[in-house]
Amino acid sequence: MTSTCGGPQLRVAVVCLGNICRSPMADVVLEHKLDEAGLADTVHVDSAGTGDWHRGEPMDPRAAAVLTEHGYDPSRHRARQVTADWFDDHDLILTMDDANFDDVAALARTPQEREKVRKFRSYDPAASLGDDEVPDPWYGGPDGFVTVLRMVERTADAIVAAAPGLTEEVSR
Ligand code: 4NP
Repeated sequence: MTSTCGGPQLRVAVVCLGNICRSPMADVVLEHKLDEAGLADTVHVDSAGTGDWHRGEPMDPRAAAVLTEHGYDPSRHRARQVTADWFDDHDLILTMDDANFDDVAALARTPQEREKVRKFRSYDPAASLGDDEVPDPWYGGPDGFVTVLRMVERTADAIVAAAPGLTEEVSR
């Protein structure tokens, strides 16, 4: 872990494919919950996609609608693409599914950078072997976005609860 004086102690990136559905939802929910827990200055959260198709665009309107309905603010998001230099600026890169994991791991330049890549739902207490991805809701109906929100909220709660220990774990 690297930390600048007065900066956040842990820098987390959440990554999906397009950075308009799953990872922006995770970003907004995690930031909201960290803020509620008084940890907004301790943990910094960013999000990105492995693809570049939507760079600069706001969140998918279906993702934004579900967030708004549940009391979150989706308005500030603009899509970005993850690149190897994200390893310079982040302690943990949490991916939504296996394909995202492989794509981000392939960007790592050293074994230490590869160690920073983990699956987002590895923190989900309800995840199990064979059920540890956040499914892509892009091609489905609105129900898929509610499913993503529930997974993201549950996992974000676990990350917030683990946050003090996480900073120590990552610094080792
Ligand atoms: P996301 O969903 O990875 O959760 O943002 C997708 C968004 C866009 C596309 C695929 C998935 N797309 O093919 O453009």
